[in-house]
Amino acid sequence: MAIDIGLTDAARKSSAEALKALLGETYALYTKTHGYHWNVTGPRFNELHGMFMTQYVELWNALDLIAERIRALGHFAPGSSGEMLASATIPPDNGVPEAADMVKNLAAGHEAVSRAAKAGIKVAEKNGDPVSVDLFTQRAQIAEKTVWMLRASA
Ligand SMILES: [Fe+2]
Repeated sequence: MAIDIGLTDAARKSSAEALKALLGETYALYTKTHGYHWNVTGPRFNELHGMFMTQYVELWNALDLIAERIRALGHFAPGSSGEMLASATIPPDNGVPEAADMVKNLAAGHEAVSRAAKAGIKVAEKNGDPVSVDLFTQRAQIAEKTVWMLRASA
């Protein structure tokens, strides 16, 4: 059955590509944040272990919203972690950083998410796709609020 939601095929494809880019950054940051939740050490353990959990749960829930928006646009979501991470710019960690470096790395990661979301806003606006604009805007807002919290605790 043909999709008829008032968007051209090219617009749906273009919005879906921008969503995939955001999905990749979000997945990379989710993985990093959950790893830090497990591995953080030091006098701030309790505070950071809890803060990282709040953040990885939020990122995990966002993955579902982003992937399901791709599906609503008539495209398939990436089916593997490799496919999701292919476009991500947030680097994976090899080893376990110090707690203070974890906070800095996560702030940089949320900044990358914000940049991907704002690139998506421009694409979706051009496509006449306000539903995707709304999702990208929500993701940018949450990413920037999280950057503030991480920077305030650095
Ligand atoms: Fe846990």
